[in-house]
Amino acid sequence: MKIKPISSYSKMSKLAAKIVAEQIINKPNTVLGLATGGTPLGMYRELVKLYKKGELDFSKVTTFNLDEYLGLSLEHPQSYHYYMYENFFNHVNIEEKNIHIPKGDTKDPVQECLNYEREIEKVGGIDLQVLGIGVNGHVGFNEPNINLEARTHVIQLSNETIRANSRFFKNLDKVPRKAITMGMATIMKSKKIVLMAWGIEKKKPILKVTSGHIATEVPASLLQVHNDVILIVD
Ligand code: F6R
Repeated sequence: MKIKPISSYSKMSKLAAKIVAEQIINKPNTVLGLATGGTPLGMYRELVKLYKKGELDFSKVTTFNLDEYLGLSLEHPQSYHYYMYENFFNHVNIEEKNIHIPKGDTKDPVQECLNYEREIEKVGGIDLQVLGIGVNGHVGFNEPNINLEARTHVIQLSNETIRANSRFFKNLDKVPRKAITMGMATIMKSKKIVLMAWGIEKKKPILKVTSGHIATEVPASLLQVHNDVILIVD
């Protein structure tokens, strides 16, 4: 794991955007794995800036988002669909057909997971996966547990995650209890991974991710087994 210490949120965002931009310049038909949440917002802003300056072309890029809440319509302002279009896709020249986000309003979540995994395989896997980390050490919505699911699956969100994410909802009761998430094996198969962590509440999980110990109770600690992870951290 390569650790890149940074001193500000803006520096973290710029460095992550630079890594993504270099990847796209070197391989225009890159397959990107994308995250939502507070952490990557600045990175998306930087990528949009690079696109507007004419320095980046997303026309051949394919994307797969890590996760989506189950039970929210695609138009719901807290759905990850809404977030991705609002903060990124509406502002760059990515092709609609190349965008993939698990469908949280699906009638058949299990089939949706199988289809999602198949779509990732069909394009030859993810070249560069962008990750944030939960206060409980989750990546995607792979929650701490003695057992982890390898592939894309339906997950029951932990109380800690529901509490942490309630800041985006009117109240705790409005936070969905379930989500679809890529599994740890799906994530680990990415050729390259960029993990960003910013803020004091991420100190505890990040110390575990760099501890040398691997535990399914800290899903992000599995990243220590991957041979091309860049951790950008304050
Ligand atoms: C989001 C995701 C989550 C977040 C994590 C951190 O798609 O997969 O793992 O990256 O919960 O969220 P923030 O950045 O809001 O602290």
